[in-house]
Amino acid sequence: MHFSFYNHAKRDYATLSVAMERSDFMLSRRQFLKGAVAVGIAGFAANSILYEPRRIIVERKTISINNLPDAFEGFRICQITDVHHGPFVSLNFVKEIVDIVDRLSPDLVALTGDYVDYSHKYITPAVTALCRFKPQYGIISILGNHDHLADAELTREVFDRNKIPVITNSHKLIEVKNNAICIAGVGDLLEDTQDLKAALHGVPPDMPRILLSHNPDYAEVVPETERVDLVLAGHTHGGQVRLPFFSIAPVTQSHYGQKYAGGLVRLSHTQVYVSRGVGMVGLPVRFNCPPEITVITLTKSHQQV
Ligand SMILES: [Fe+2]
Repeated sequence: MHFSFYNHAKRDYATLSVAMERSDFMLSRRQFLKGAVAVGIAGFAANSILYEPRRIIVERKTISINNLPDAFEGFRICQITDVHHGPFVSLNFVKEIVDIVDRLSPDLVALTGDYVDYSHKYITPAVTALCRFKPQYGIISILGNHDHLADAELTREVFDRNKIPVITNSHKLIEVKNNAICIAGVGDLLEDTQDLKAALHGVPPDMPRILLSHNPDYAEVVPETERVDLVLAGHTHGGQVRLPFFSIAPVTQSHYGQKYAGGLVRLSHTQVYVSRGVGMVGLPVRFNCPPEITVITLTKSHQQV
């Protein structure tokens, strides 16, 4: 009897020990999962805030332009957009961009707006730094919605001081060996007016036309009668955060969803290149969507890369 009681007690103790061990294991697994999630979130935050916003990618694109004169075959335009110098984008980072572009030696630099976040105090340093590019055929600029929110007049004044044209609803002809292409610009879609007729006034009908429009949505309403060969735009920042695997941007600041989140978009009446831009607004994060410097090589052939 005593022996049987001892055996029962021993078995119960063993069962209890196993149960306790299982309970300990379950608890530590839960703790492990919590820890893994915390490390994942910390890693995501560190990557999105500290690493990816500084991981500049040079995107190279060859784009066909009808009637491109032979003299412009291989002509390289570097597009810089949405710099957003401010609390999240330092002046040193802007200068780093300028250094990279200088090393790329483009023929022309197109600045497509949003040079600061919301504050006018960043305008003079940001625009002055960007005016230091030294391409052979100069720099051409337009303004974005944030430039109007910060101070459009001051932005124009600083460009003017540095002898850089702001081509709002106007154009500039770029000449190479007695041939020319037209670079035109329109005002921002959200904060200004767009007069494409005025922008292209006097441009010969067969001359290639590249239009700078900060907001890519404007491409949807470009009249077919005002032939435009290519639109260069920014504004959407690629969404700043793009979901892994599907590369979908939950927020694009465009009425057309993912259509203008980034890259080349072909429409029936024109084509649009949308840069992810350099800086950030709203949240100081970029995920799966690094800053972009764009180098567009013009070609008259129809082999686009
Ligand atoms: Fe922007």
